[in-house]
Amino acid sequence: MTPKRLGILISGRGSNMEALLRAALDPAWPCEPALVLSNRPDAGGLDKARSYGVHTAAIDHKNYGKDREAFERAVDAELRNAGVELVALAGFMRVLTPWFVNAWAGRLINIHPSLLPLYPGVDTHQRCLDAGDAVHGCTVHQVTAGVDEGPVIGSAEVDVMPGDTADTLAARVLKAEHQLYPRCLAAVARKGGTRVREDLVSDGVRVRLYAPRG
Ligand code: GRF
Repeated sequence: MTPKRLGILISGRGSNMEALLRAALDPAWPCEPALVLSNRPDAGGLDKARSYGVHTAAIDHKNYGKDREAFERAVDAELRNAGVELVALAGFMRVLTPWFVNAWAGRLINIHPSLLPLYPGVDTHQRCLDAGDAVHGCTVHQVTAGVDEGPVIGSAEVDVMPGDTADTLAARVLKAEHQLYPRCLAAVARKGGTRVREDLVSDGVRVRLYAPRG
C-alpha cells in the first residue's frame, strides 16, 4: 500500500513524535512523516524532527491572540500544503475547536497518558496514585469535539508499583506510549477489519489494540 502522509503536531520534547519517526524508518510501517508542526517555536521536538530529515514548521499560537480558529486555519493550511492525510497529536497542548476537529474527522488521532475513560485532562499519574489504582496506562483515540473523548484505537497497561511517584509512573507509562502509538497509527492507516487486532505483552507492557472500523 502507498504509505499515508502523516502530520505530527507537538508542543514540547516530542518523545512520542520520535517514536513515530523511528517506526517510519521501517519501510513496512504504513505512514510516511510529511510534517512535524509545533505551536511553540522553541519546542525541543522540532530539532529532533529535523535530525530525522523531516520537514518542520512552527506556528506560534500567541500571534493569533484569542482567535483559536485563525490559528487552526494556519495549521490546517500547513498540513494541506504538505499533503498530510492523517494527523497525530503528540503532546500538542492546545485544545482544538470543533472546526478543526470536523475538518479532520476520522483522520485526527491523540495519545493520552491514562486508561480512558479514566482521568481525562491533566495530572493523570497523580490522580491514578491518589485513587490507589493497581493498573495505569495510556490510550490512543480518535479525536472528537470532547476533550480526551472519541473512539479508542488502542491502549497499553502498566502495573503501578509500590513506592511509585507520579514521576516514576509517568516514565513507565511514557515507554508504553512509545510502543502503543506506532502500532495504533499503523492500524488506522491500514484500516483493518476485525475489532480486536492485537493483544500482546512486550517489555512488561500489555498492549491491546483495536482496529478501527474500516
Ligand atoms: C505524553 O505523555 C502524551 O501522552 C501527552 O503529552 C505527553 C507528551 O510527551 N499527550 P512527548 O512530548 O511525546 O514526550
